Amino acid sequence: MGKAKTVFICRNCGTEAPKWIGKCPSCGEWNTFTEEVIHKTSAIADTHFSKSNALPIRLSEVDPKSRPRLDTQTGELNRVLGGGLVSGSVVLIGGEPGIGKSTLALQVALAMSNFKVLYISGEESVQQIRMRADRIGRSNVNCYVLSEVSLQNIFSHLQQLQPDILIIDSVQTLQDETLESSPGSISQIRECAGKLMKFAKETATPVFLIGHITKDGTLAGPKILEHIVDTVLLFEGDQHYMYRILRASKNRFGATAELGIFEMLDNGLREVENPSEVLINKNNEGLSGITTAATIDGIRPFLIEVQALVSTAAYGTPQRVSTGYDVRRLNMLLAVLERRAGFKLATRDVFLNLAGGLRVTDPALDLAIIGAILSSGVDKPVTKKMCFSAEVGLSGEIRPISRIDQRIREAERLGFTGMMISGAYEKANISGKGSIKIIKVNRVEEAVKKIFSKE
Ligand code: TYD
Ligand code: MG
Repeated sequence: MGKAKTVFICRNCGTEAPKWIGKCPSCGEWNTFTEEVIHKTSAIADTHFSKSNALPIRLSEVDPKSRPRLDTQTGELNRVLGGGLVSGSVVLIGGEPGIGKSTLALQVALAMSNFKVLYISGEESVQQIRMRADRIGRSNVNCYVLSEVSLQNIFSHLQQLQPDILIIDSVQTLQDETLESSPGSISQIRECAGKLMKFAKETATPVFLIGHITKDGTLAGPKILEHIVDTVLLFEGDQHYMYRILRASKNRFGATAELGIFEMLDNGLREVENPSEVLINKNNEGLSGITTAATIDGIRPFLIEVQALVSTAAYGTPQRVSTGYDVRRLNMLLAVLERRAGFKLATRDVFLNLAGGLRVTDPALDLAIIGAILSSGVDKPVTKKMCFSAEVGLSGEIRPISRIDQRIREAERLGFTGMMISGAYEKANISGKGSIKIIKVNRVEEAVKKIFSKE
């Protein structure tokens, strides 16, 4: 046994220092140093998997097809990965507890029946994993499970079993026995992820790492975990709703703008290929306070229902409550409505809700929100055949937003017959294929007049 030593490690970049420092000299972050006990036994514990030593090779002679993408049998996951799983890549799936990371990972393990998959859990027993698999209702004879936390034991199993795909649930439970610090500490996570990365690269085995997310929404552990891995996917959603979004925040092998949507059902996750169809309710024709927005998340267009309720405030200060949308932006829109359209809201409560528990930050929602608030305020429904897509500026101007053509096409595909957009596009003739009427507006006052006119 070597000598135990205490070091301070920056949570953000992993810089080590012998004493506590307020500001990291390397990344400049404040108050990120944490104390850890490091107990290095010996250097020989380092693991080697490669059978041959790689030689330098001309870039032009590298065959890109020799490492094909594997089909995960899950369309939405393939999409976020950029067209499938790259062999030898390490994919980190992060998310809050209970969001469905283990379910997703197990479901992928069961779906990829052409490959030998090893699912290692440090959190659940093999019986628990079996119960989950039964609940999902799938089986795969090529899926092996193991309940283990020791990295050294894991590597000896890997050498024996030689799986095609490795899943680790979760990276925070792993323990490298050559380090004294406890599982989940910065040095453990960094060391374990580094060794697994090496394993993935040398054996061309794709590895999924599951990672927890802390309260402030960042992946628990050092930022360098995100630097080590090839792909970081975040699994998000409101636990009380069933929709889950899988989003790439880093991807060495594809775009990060892609988005996968799932629905958590009683028997596992269902892929949602047509998000618009589930996010708009076709049965509330004639109700006031409801509009539809044509939005884009990343590069994926979808339509989402916006609901507003405006009622008389019971107490002095009116309430402004928003679910799925930034409440400060809602306040801004209310101020614009009040100043530019003369709509008095000072004594009214305003509640806003986006369908499905989704959080949307697309400014193109502005006009739909204004429409919903107006509709609820005057208690007059907006026709369900109309959708909205425009940003609203402080002076009440209706501003253009990106990828308008894609939004129009999606609205048209879903059978909308009218769409209200900004009149300020450079291209003069923005229009759909013909089945949708484009209504261009330049000011909030103008939009207010046109929202209720029968089209
Ligand atoms: P889980 O995958 O354990 O979450 P994580 O690994 O991210 O912590 O999923 C937990 C939740 O999902 C749990 O509250 C139960 C629910 N669930 C379903 O609704 N249907 C299912 O088929 C399964 C397996 C879980
Ligand atoms: Mg889990």
